[in-house]
Amino acid sequence: MPKRLLKYKNYDVQSITTATPDGRRNANIATWVMQTAMGGTHLVVALYKPDYTIELARESGILNVNLLATDQTGLIRKLGQQSGRDKDKFKNVPHALDERGCPYLTESIGYAQCRVSHTTDAGDHELFICEVLRQVVLHPEKEVMTNIFLKERKLIRG
Ligand SMILES: Cc1cc2nc3c(=O)[nH]c(=O)nc-3n(C[C@H](O)[C@H](O)[C@H](O)COP(=O)(O)O)c2cc1C
Repeated sequence: MPKRLLKYKNYDVQSITTATPDGRRNANIATWVMQTAMGGTHLVVALYKPDYTIELARESGILNVNLLATDQTGLIRKLGQQSGRDKDKFKNVPHALDERGCPYLTESIGYAQCRVSHTTDAGDHELFICEVLRQVVLHPEKEVMTNIFLKERKLIRG
């Protein structure tokens, strides 16, 4: 039985980090992220409705899109296969805060600092259309982690 068409698509792997003014913060893993303006001024992030990340991103209206590197596979389990509702996911994960108090991952290739402009329903995910305030490159020498890379190493199924 061949795979269904959309299973052939590859995606870059990111972590969405966000924080609310009262100090709650979280990080997930997200592949459904894309640029939507030629100058890199906007991007869209699809967030899964039941998750903690969407709750905090809705409340705060700010997030960072951290582009992960191939040496960060340990984050898949830590950030992408459990919820931050009842634990601090940043424990033992190298990170820092931007000037808004929003975390970013210091071992990632870099991060896009975003402000949520609006959201729209999209099935079991909601699309967060974001304005990119700043793009910061931290580790240009690293390789971008992709979905296919994770599948080949059996770190995810599909
Ligand atoms: C490879 C991979 C890709 C994922 N892509 C997305 C995505 O695009 N959007 C999303 O909201 N969740 C995505 N997830 C799921 C969340 O990362 C996962 O549900 C996480 O545990 C949510 O944690 P939270 O409740 O702390 O937000 C992905 C997970 C993995 C492992």
